[in-house]
Amino acid sequence: MRIINCHTYEAMSRKAADILAAQIQLKPNCVLGLATGTTPIGAYQGLIKKYESGSLDFSEVRTYNLDEYRGLTHEDPQSYHYFMNDQLFNHVNIDPANVHVPDGANTDADAACTDYDRMVAEAGYCDLQLLGIGRNGHIGFNEPADEFSKGTHCVDLTESTIEANSRLFEKEEDVPRQAYTMGTQTIMNARCILMVANGENKAQAVRDMCFGPIVPTCPASILQLHPNVFVVCDDAALSLCEGLY
Ligand code: GLP
Repeated sequence: MRIINCHTYEAMSRKAADILAAQIQLKPNCVLGLATGTTPIGAYQGLIKKYESGSLDFSEVRTYNLDEYRGLTHEDPQSYHYFMNDQLFNHVNIDPANVHVPDGANTDADAACTDYDRMVAEAGYCDLQLLGIGRNGHIGFNEPADEFSKGTHCVDLTESTIEANSRLFEKEEDVPRQAYTMGTQTIMNARCILMVANGENKAQAVRDMCFGPIVPTCPASILQLHPNVFVVCDDAALSLCEGLY
């Protein structure tokens, strides 16, 4: 794992946008794994700026998002698909046919997950997977569990995740209780992983991910086994890792 301390959220976001842009420059038809959450918003803004200045072309880029709430359509403003349109896709020249998010509207969980796994596999898995981290060490919606997950599956969200994500909903009761998420094995199949984390409330999760035991109770800890991971953080997220890297 290569840990990069960018000190501030702004610098972290610039670094993440530069790494994503470099991937697109190197391979214009690359497969990007993308993440939702507030953490990557600054990186997405950086990518939009690069596109607007004429230095980045998304016309051949293919994207696969990590997760989606079960039961929400892509038009629902609370869906992750809507979030991605709003934060990135509507502002760059990506071909909508190249955008993939698990189909939350398909409540047949087996079908929705099998279809998504097939699509990601057919694309040859991700060249670069962008990840955020949950306060409990989750990646995508792979929550702490007794074993690491493999392919795309339906998860029951933990109370802590529901509570953390409720800030984006009017009421906590509105947060869906289930989601479809890429599994850990699918995430690990990416050739390169870019993890972004900022803020003090991520410090323990970042420490456990980078320096704790590799255990499914901290799903992100499996990234220690991946050969090509960049962990890009601000000071606060790395505050419990001082002297360790
Ligand atoms: C959600 C998403 C994750 C994301 C996490 C952290 O649970 N499924 O992919 O990493 O939230 O979000 P934030 O960046 O807002 O802290």
